[in-house]
Amino acid sequence: MQLEIRPRRLRSHPALRRMVCETRMDPSSLVYPIFITEGTNIRQEISSMPGQYRYSVDRMGEKLEELADSGVTNVMFFGIPLPEHKDAAGSGAYAQDGVVQQALRRAKQDFPQMYRMADVCMCEYTSHGHCGILCGNEVDNDRTLESLAKIAVSQVQAGADLVAPSDMMDGRVAAIRLALDQNGYSCVPIMSYSVKYASAFYGPFRDAADSAPAFGDRKTYQMDFHNRREASREAALDAKEGADILMVKPAMAYADIIREIRNRTDLPLAAYSVSGEYAMIRAAALAGWIQEEQAVIEAAVCAYRAGADIYISYFAKELATYMAEGKMG
Ligand code: PBG
Repeated sequence: MQLEIRPRRLRSHPALRRMVCETRMDPSSLVYPIFITEGTNIRQEISSMPGQYRYSVDRMGEKLEELADSGVTNVMFFGIPLPEHKDAAGSGAYAQDGVVQQALRRAKQDFPQMYRMADVCMCEYTSHGHCGILCGNEVDNDRTLESLAKIAVSQVQAGADLVAPSDMMDGRVAAIRLALDQNGYSCVPIMSYSVKYASAFYGPFRDAADSAPAFGDRKTYQMDFHNRREASREAALDAKEGADILMVKPAMAYADIIREIRNRTDLPLAAYSVSGEYAMIRAAALAGWIQEEQAVIEAAVCAYRAGADIYISYFAKELATYMAEGKMG
């Protein structure tokens, strides 16, 4: 048959396949989320995320070392205070000796080469589990901004290299930017969870962080997953307020949104493969129903192919290994 164009020619040799590979990944683009709990000598498996642990500050080094050995240099810190340290205002989130502040200080001292990112939110610290200060049963947007700004400043004071607000309050990037600048941190970047949907895929995280809302849900602040144009508006707003990096979250069921934002912004873009995505793959693998390595690679490549520059994943260590072994193209 006379065929002028034969796409298979470019697939004919492994070297050529690699040469024309469109999605190339590097461990420097990976971020690992770590849960730090109050207390000492704790390494406790998270029941809904087999293979993931909560660490106390004195033991988190075990994990950070493991990450560094596999080539993961970026870590996002989440603090889990004791129930008795939670209050309606989430004040533990900006306590100088709060759990995440202690973790950041220790990490800066023991792992200075690691890039420390801090999640800015209140749901782990509020007694009601919502991501802000309540007024009746609603989260009061503007009062919450003051707290978020305080949290971000305290995290940077403790050693965070970057802050990542995940609360979804309107105007928080501007509020945090202003507070950081006023405190002499004008060079500290903000990675905004710009496009964060109200998602069932956060379920295991809320177990891990003990942060499920005590009543209601997060639909008055997190986005409706039916909406795509709204994602563009959120991303544009955060960019205008001074976000340095944008994020889409979750990743796996939202590749269309990652691509949409990629096409509309020149800013670096992160995709967060959330706890439910990890749990689904891990659970199916443990049951013998899916090949974990292939599934993890496929899901990650999808996010990068969709346009993500940065991939936040509980499989970061595994992914770094696959990348180093040339398994990902
Ligand atoms: C805090 C926060 C959440 C996640 C990241 N930051 C939970 C939520 O919004 O309920 C979810 C991460 C994951 O599921 O892996 N607001």
